[in-house]
Amino acid sequence: MYLGLDVGTSGLRALLVDDAGTVVGAAEAGYPVAHPAPGWSEQDPADWVSACERAVAALRETHPAEFSALKGIGLSGQMHGATLLDASGAVLRPCILWNDTRSHVEARALDAAPGVRDLSGNIVFPGFTAPKLAWVAKHEPEVFAAVAKVLLPKDYLRYWLTGEHIGDMSDSAGTSWLDTGARDWSDALLSAGGMRRDQMPALVEGSAPGGTLRTELLKAWGLPGPVTVAGGGGDNAAAACGAGCFRDGQGFVSLGTSGVLLAAKDSYAPDPASAVHTFCHAVPGTWYQMGVILAATDCLNWLSRTLGQEPARLAEHVPDRIAGPSHILFLPYLSGERTPHNDSAIRATFANVDIGDGPEQLTQAVMEGVSFALRDCHEALKGTGTQLTRLLAVGGGTRSRGWVETLATVLGVPLDLPAKGEFGAALGAARLAIAAVTGGPLDVIMAPPEISETIEPRADLTAAYDEAHAKYRALYPQMKAILT
Ligand code: XUL
Repeated sequence: MYLGLDVGTSGLRALLVDDAGTVVGAAEAGYPVAHPAPGWSEQDPADWVSACERAVAALRETHPAEFSALKGIGLSGQMHGATLLDASGAVLRPCILWNDTRSHVEARALDAAPGVRDLSGNIVFPGFTAPKLAWVAKHEPEVFAAVAKVLLPKDYLRYWLTGEHIGDMSDSAGTSWLDTGARDWSDALLSAGGMRRDQMPALVEGSAPGGTLRTELLKAWGLPGPVTVAGGGGDNAAAACGAGCFRDGQGFVSLGTSGVLLAAKDSYAPDPASAVHTFCHAVPGTWYQMGVILAATDCLNWLSRTLGQEPARLAEHVPDRIAGPSHILFLPYLSGERTPHNDSAIRATFANVDIGDGPEQLTQAVMEGVSFALRDCHEALKGTGTQLTRLLAVGGGTRSRGWVETLATVLGVPLDLPAKGEFGAALGAARLAIAAVTGGPLDVIMAPPEISETIEPRADLTAAYDEAHAKYRALYPQMKAILT
């Protein structure tokens, strides 16, 4: 038996799988995000630990026999968060999360420093880890002076599970301290950010062993042991393992809270100028590229709150078989944008709204705006030479058939919808645990999910959506010039 633990932004998901990777049980435990100031987003690392304890307790109760046969644990988590520990291992301040933009000034400065983009392969986005530490150095110097280790969220949970400071390459690539091509910490990047190698955890590949469960926890959880903890991965790399995407040509598009268009790569092909993210994959010798938009279903959630209608009810306004683009344009930058603009100041726009328009038209415009933003990500990836002829479509937004058909048409690629079941980051984490313990063949362990349906682009609407996308593209520079 294997356990996948995904330290998400709103909660921890635990998945128990058998030796063949089939899901046996699942448990979740939530925790809050604090926003103590505009643009700030923080979490108490103790909440991840207590969520893990609650989820494990739930699994032990529902699946006692299976849990006691546990051989390995895989970890996945929200990327980029800065968990700061002092020399005794105590947490120095709340973790500053991936969606916290307070360090935009420090990010811009680091991004402009010579060699930083070349070595890290990425823009230094305000959400990444290095600028957060630069912010702490400036605003909380006494905390900065006490920092003995910086751990990403899943690696803090590993520290609690194993007592060891270990990270994996896929998550660490989102710090701006990693030489992403060489898969190692870069002394040049660390010193550009005022950090040292001894403040970093040791690195292992995601599918390799990365610690063993502490004796106290073996006892408390009724396990004979030993239990290996795998390197694991950042949530997008782990999700790619769960979805069976780790070879060139494989990729997924995710309509989650944020939106992601990810392509697996068997070579390192960064293109920071286009705001494409290029990170190590959780599998040795592989990387992935992705475009990230900061609000996907979050846009529908916002509209739902604003109109007082549940998101599922709003989604019903858009028919399964779409009829062509709306006259309304929506720029989905409610929380700023990463790909392709790298603009934390921009905000969303509705343009060309008619007095007769209501929830139906606004919902369609929101789904189209998010789809156009993901097309921008696709174009950015294509600009690096990446070819994707089909994509797996995942995330809550794919429950709307009309949204998926819009997205397929806007992207110009067929979208495969997986059959019901697990294929997310927690499954990917469990699969990495299987790989770490058994050393088994990755093609078998990380098989793609069964496809229930493929949604083809609507060739009859392609020209109309291309035209609408061109207008959408023209709107951002105008709004930027006026409003920021
Ligand atoms: C990736 C990113 C998010 C977080 C939270 O760069 O910021 O996907 O990992 O899920």
